[in-house]
Amino acid sequence: MHRKEFLRNTGLAAASLAIAATNKSFAATVDTKVKMGLIGVGQRGLGHLDLLMRRDDVELVAICDTDPRTLNEAKGYIAESKKKSPEIFTGDTYAWKRMLDKYKLDGIVIATPWEWHKEMIIGSLESGIKYVGSEVIIGISLEDHWEVVRAAEKYKAHVMMLENVCYRRDVMAVLNMVRQGLFGELIHLQGGYQHDLREVKFNNGTDVYGHGVEFGEKGYSEAHWRTEHSVHRNGDLYPTHGVGPIANYININRGNRFTSLCSFSSKSRGLHNHIIKQGGENHPNAKVNFKLGDVVTTSINCVNGETILLQHDTDLPRPYSLGFRVQGTEGLWMDVNKSIYIQEKSAKAHQWDEAKQWLDKYDHPLWQRWSKETAGAGHGGMDFFVIHALVESIKNKTATPLDVYDAATWSAISPLSEQSIGLGSQTVEFPDFTGGQWMYRKPVFALTDSY
Ligand SMILES: NC(=O)c1ccc[n+]([C@@H]2O[C@H](COP(=O)([O-])OP(=O)(O)OC[C@H]3O[C@@H](n4cnc5c(N)ncnc54)[C@H](O)[C@@H]3O)[C@@H](O)[C@H]2O)c1
Repeated sequence: MHRKEFLRNTGLAAASLAIAATNKSFAATVDTKVKMGLIGVGQRGLGHLDLLMRRDDVELVAICDTDPRTLNEAKGYIAESKKKSPEIFTGDTYAWKRMLDKYKLDGIVIATPWEWHKEMIIGSLESGIKYVGSEVIIGISLEDHWEVVRAAEKYKAHVMMLENVCYRRDVMAVLNMVRQGLFGELIHLQGGYQHDLREVKFNNGTDVYGHGVEFGEKGYSEAHWRTEHSVHRNGDLYPTHGVGPIANYININRGNRFTSLCSFSSKSRGLHNHIIKQGGENHPNAKVNFKLGDVVTTSINCVNGETILLQHDTDLPRPYSLGFRVQGTEGLWMDVNKSIYIQEKSAKAHQWDEAKQWLDKYDHPLWQRWSKETAGAGHGGMDFFVIHALVESIKNKTATPLDVYDAATWSAISPLSEQSIGLGSQTVEFPDFTGGQWMYRKPVFALTDSY
């Protein structure tokens, strides 16, 4: 589909005009390389490192991590790229501050444990950086989320949460279909994070995945930090992969908003059983009580009348699925059975069509244009788009297509669901991080084939 046709079909052409730059002092121009930094080169950060090193329009000036092992891996990637090596900052947990003091960076990517994100985002903004790309989850408490929003507003800077699932090819084709009205008016949406993480939450301290039931000090990579969240917290701890695409489908913070939330938690068995099975009853971790329920189910209401159901399901045996369902007055998409049904357009009444024929037909212009560049990027290529969007926003001096209000709204589902469960599954009010601006803000995400 041609770009003009795409815009006309979405009915959003006017809104596609680039948002005015908010930062006049910003230094990078299209003919100079964008100067980037990267904090955290663990499992996720290495992917971002690779994507940044691949780009000819980026100079990766500096990287930071506290772990010599992961830094060694990073050095391997850098050597392979045959590009100038970034300066490496390490030695202590605040080495990243020295990096920010030394270099005037155009943008930064943060891929560290969740509990560091707020401090690193705000620290980056305070250092003068105007474009921050943070891995998913921008804070732990609700107040953390407000602090990030206030900092982005204070420094007139852009904070993009690098929510890659928003760019998944089928998710984007469905966005295209939603905008062209194929599903009619949207009524109900589902999604979540349904991923057996038992071999991520536990390992032997050497391998990234499994081969042991250690965590915390004795664990490696996410087992080193993420598992503690399952010990101490009960809620939807990872909502953004599910809710990000949904929020784009129904224009959350842009004409619509979440109004209330209610979460239910099942009992917790999966992690304990895994320890017993793999490590035996006498393993010290067999005594650990995990607060996180195996399946946490969250309902969200929207001001425009849609309902949303999210599920967090990471501790039981199951194949990976984010469980999307996008349902409107004319039909629906469900990703688990890879099916679409559109009234009067599907081959047979009351019978599913294979989703593929629809997804191919409505392939999003971004994928049509950039699929060659996505080859080799993580998670089926979608990881390319988050770094691409951040870098292109810097070059074009525009707002990022996912902004700090999206980041805060999606990520705040974690503390809100904890609050709801803590209150015996009471419904809690959803804060409006936009301060009423949701009524006036227009959709901007993926309106063209640019970024
Ligand atoms: N979007 C996705 O698909 C996706 C996939 C995996 C992980 N993630 C997210 O990426 C982030 C990182 O996850 P990961 O899997 O790479 O974890 P990881 O544990 O493998 O990597 C984290 C890295 O941060 C480093 N680090 C910790 N504290 C630091 C500090 N103070 N200063 C500098 N470096 C520090 C660690 O040494 C480690 O190398 C998390 O937010 C996670 O949720 C996202």
